[in-house]
Amino acid sequence: MPEREMPLPGVLGPRGRTIGEEERAAVLRVLDSAVLCSAFGSEARSLEAEMTELYSRGEAIACSSGTAALHLAVAAAGVGPGDEVITTPLTDFGTVAPVVAQGGRAVFADVRPEDGNIDPGAVEAALTPRTKAVIAVHLFGAAAGIDALRAICDRHGLVLIEDCAQAWLGEDSAGRLLGTVGDIACFSLQQYKHITAGDGGLAITDDPGLARHMRLFMDKGWDRAEGRIHREMGLNYRMTELTAAVARAQLTKVADVVRVRRERAGQLVAALAGLERVTVPEPLPGHAWWLFPLLVEDNSRWAKDLQAEGVPTMPGYLERPLYANPALPGYPPGLCPRAERLIDRTLLALPWNEGYTEADVEHIARAIRTVHDRAYAR
Ligand SMILES: Cc1ncc(COP(=O)(O)O)c(C=O)c1O
Repeated sequence: MPEREMPLPGVLGPRGRTIGEEERAAVLRVLDSAVLCSAFGSEARSLEAEMTELYSRGEAIACSSGTAALHLAVAAAGVGPGDEVITTPLTDFGTVAPVVAQGGRAVFADVRPEDGNIDPGAVEAALTPRTKAVIAVHLFGAAAGIDALRAICDRHGLVLIEDCAQAWLGEDSAGRLLGTVGDIACFSLQQYKHITAGDGGLAITDDPGLARHMRLFMDKGWDRAEGRIHREMGLNYRMTELTAAVARAQLTKVADVVRVRRERAGQLVAALAGLERVTVPEPLPGHAWWLFPLLVEDNSRWAKDLQAEGVPTMPGYLERPLYANPALPGYPPGLCPRAERLIDRTLLALPWNEGYTEADVEHIARAIRTVHDRAYAR
């Protein structure tokens, strides 16, 4: 099949992002006001109010990145030296960096082979008296086993943090929004996410105590209503007004972004029906489809063959599990064999985008069928 003249829309170009007149006007509004720092302006506070409304939660705290949002959460959970936080090795480094920054230890629990989400049974097995929190990542936008994780955390008095960086407006099988079961949920506005302001993060919670700690941590431990007193340790994780203004415009678009991603994903799921050697995700209605994951037998070969058909992919999603990175020494290889198998052999993540047309999805489906039939021709 010949390569198409036009590459698929992607997150590094206007066709694959929803940046338009609203964002342009937002940026100019802030520039014209000359107040670019959110400690003195209204954009970040308005974004927080709008996020609170979107998720029907008590409070939202805007900050500079998804990693920062997770750092707010981990610090508010009281994680300090010697404390353990259980999470998945199949996630962005931003999920665990805050744990390490707090002097805590990330404990990696293995994942479910079918969707790469953390296995609640493995979380239970990893508990120790030093466990303080669990961070559940809704990988690629598919719900982690949040009820089981909630039950474990309740039984052991742990803080449950939901990492929703990849799961904007995702829902679980009961139709609940992802990010509304944990004590805190964290979101990212980084370039590759469903909506973007370049970088940026949001943490939401219903707990006023956690919210206060997070707000203080975001702004140097400083409650500006009180005077120049630093009540607790904090960093400067403030979101700028320019970022907040763009994020506000993007937030009005996220429902449409997710809706279109779902429609296109449904089209691909249907188009791949009957392929013997490709496991397609169950078409869960609440999936947020940050990426479109497939399970195959030799993911690097598939990646090469699909690239030749004009379809870029991310074999394994990560090059290695988080614990195999030099920045996280002391973990043995083979620690989470199911995650390692997904990365090394079976997981093939397709970039997914609301800018895809039906014809784009047909093209992707055709490419997958071509590669499948060639590889498995008898
Ligand atoms: C699951 C997950 N957690 C955390 C992060 C960190 O977010 P950020 O890049 O905004 O710091 C990302 C994305 O980068 C992510 O995908």
